[in-house]
Amino acid sequence: MRGQDVRLEGMGVTYPNGFTAVQPTDLEIRAGEFFSILGPSGCGKTTILRTVSGFVEPTAGRVLIGGADQRGIGPNGRPTALIFQNLALFPLMPVWENVAFGLEARGWSKRRRRARAEELLALVALGDQGGKLPSELSGGQRQRVAIARALAVEPAVLLLDEPLSALDLKLRQHMRAELRAIQQKTGVTFLYITHDQGEALTMSDRIAVMNAGVVEQVGTGDEIYSDPTSAFVASFVGEVNALPGRIAGLDGPFARIETAAGQLLGRNPRGLPMGAPAILFVRPEQMGFGPLANAFRARLERRDLEGPYISYGFRTETGQALVVQQVNAGGPPAAITEAQVGFAPEAAVILPEGAMARTGPEMAAP
Ligand SMILES: Nc1ncnc2c1ncn2[C@@H]1O[C@H](COP(=O)(O)OP(=O)(O)OP(=O)(O)O)[C@@H](O)[C@H]1O
Ligand SMILES: [Mg+2]
Repeated sequence: MRGQDVRLEGMGVTYPNGFTAVQPTDLEIRAGEFFSILGPSGCGKTTILRTVSGFVEPTAGRVLIGGADQRGIGPNGRPTALIFQNLALFPLMPVWENVAFGLEARGWSKRRRRARAEELLALVALGDQGGKLPSELSGGQRQRVAIARALAVEPAVLLLDEPLSALDLKLRQHMRAELRAIQQKTGVTFLYITHDQGEALTMSDRIAVMNAGVVEQVGTGDEIYSDPTSAFVASFVGEVNALPGRIAGLDGPFARIETAAGQLLGRNPRGLPMGAPAILFVRPEQMGFGPLANAFRARLERRDLEGPYISYGFRTETGQALVVQQVNAGGPPAAITEAQVGFAPEAAVILPEGAMARTGPEMAAP
């Protein structure tokens, strides 16, 4: 099996009812890459996947796979295979026949199909399970059967639409590592769709973060997490403290922002000008105690023990909620009621005012 690249060129989808689910988008997914599209429900993820698989024709631009324009080519003519959330295994067929199902139509003999199925089952660590019925497997094992079945037809691109969402948390986390391992063993291009940032961050070579039909940022997990370029990306991926205000001073790569909690200094990667409405973002684990460059007096409202770290919920005199995360050093909890909390300018990023991801009743609350 050999992965192929997928290119969207000005690709957009407006459904027949007039609703534009995907704005014209340029996107390149490299051959052999584990690429995730991450975004909230309804942002257009499945629609993009459908245009790649051939179930939906773009209404603008085009889709190329391995450099070939896919216009007019139906799902069966494309070098893709699709895995849905509900797997639809055949309940009365043994596992190996489920895996080899697509090969019968290709005229493969039963012996060849069985051999191929065993090969694929070994690949997904189900080597000795071929004779069982799907009902005799666990949820995670069934998921792996579905993956083996999709790989049987030797796709260049495997399309996965939230394939883990029906599994419980433990199994989901286990399957992340399995999926990644299968992808690396096969070299097939994986286009993975999820609204779960943890999944996207742990498995992907690169991630596209989408909101309301628009790809807002493409990058590695580290880039997306540490250097978000929009308010939406900063607030959707990971926990974050958000302080809205206006640019009140410029200093090289840094800017000063006037917020309700005072003037704060942070990075200004987008080069926002004086007076621009903006939001300063800083991660809880970048916050610390003591006289830092940007510091607040704040009252402790909550202490959440998360195991390896502790999450403190503070509130400043001006009413700003701030979450501070510290590594759990062990020992009894410190008796804090009030503290000076803050962050270094390098740890904060100032971005244009814009739509935020909904993270609960309060923007900065975990
Ligand atoms: N056939 C259709 N006709 C009209 N609108 C549609 C159609 N299919 C989807 N939509 C709308 O397009 C938008 C994007 O849908 P899509 O299924 O791509 O979202 P998604 O990001 O996959 O969401 P989820 O995470 O809930 O699966 C949604 O607002 C949806 O209601
Ligand atoms: Mg979807």
